[in-house]
Amino acid sequence: MRIIKVENYEQLSREVADLIAAEIREKPKCVLGLATGSTPVGAYKLLVRAYESGEIDFSEITSVNLDEYCGLPPDNPESYRRFMDENLFNHINIDKAKTHVPNGMAESLDAEAKGYEALIKSLGGIDLQLLGMGHNGHIGFNEPDEEFKALTHHVHLAEQTIKANSRFFESPEDVPKSAITMGIETIMHAKKIIIAVSGNDKANILKKALFGTITPRIPASILRLHNNLTVVTDCLT
Ligand code: GLP
Repeated sequence: MRIIKVENYEQLSREVADLIAAEIREKPKCVLGLATGSTPVGAYKLLVRAYESGEIDFSEITSVNLDEYCGLPPDNPESYRRFMDENLFNHINIDKAKTHVPNGMAESLDAEAKGYEALIKSLGGIDLQLLGMGHNGHIGFNEPDEEFKALTHHVHLAEQTIKANSRFFESPEDVPKSAITMGIETIMHAKKIIIAVSGNDKANILKKALFGTITPRIPASILRLHNNLTVVTDCLT
């Protein structure tokens, strides 16, 4: 694992954007695994800027997002589809038909999860997966558990996650209670993984994930077994 320690969120965003831009230049048809949350917002802004100044071409990129809330239509302001459109896709020359986010409104969530997994396989897998990390060590919506859940699946969100994500909603009651998320195996199959972690409030859990026991109680801890993991963080001194 490679750890890039930076001093602040601006530097973190710059590093993450540079790593993604390098991947696109190296492989213009790459499959990008993308993440939501506040952490990647700065990097997405820089990627938009790089596109506007003609430095990156997204026209041949395919994207697959990590997760989506269940029960929020795609145009709901808090849905992850809307988040991706507003923070990235609407501002670059990516073909929207090639941007994939799980459908949290599907009639059968299990069938949707299976279909999403099959889609990723049919694309030849993920070249570069970007991750953030929740305060309980979750990645995507893989919550602390007794075991690592392998493939894309329907998941009930932990109370801590609902609380943390309620800052985007009017009240905690409005936060969806479940989601569809890529599983740990789906993520671990990506050829490269970048995890971006920002803020002192995540320093402890990040240290546990990187240097403690590998356990499903801290889902991010398994990433250390990946052979091409880059950690970009401003919370390790
Ligand atoms: C959500 C997302 C995760 C994200 C996490 C951390 O729960 N499902 O993919 O990494 O939030 O978000 P933030 O970056 O806002 O701390």
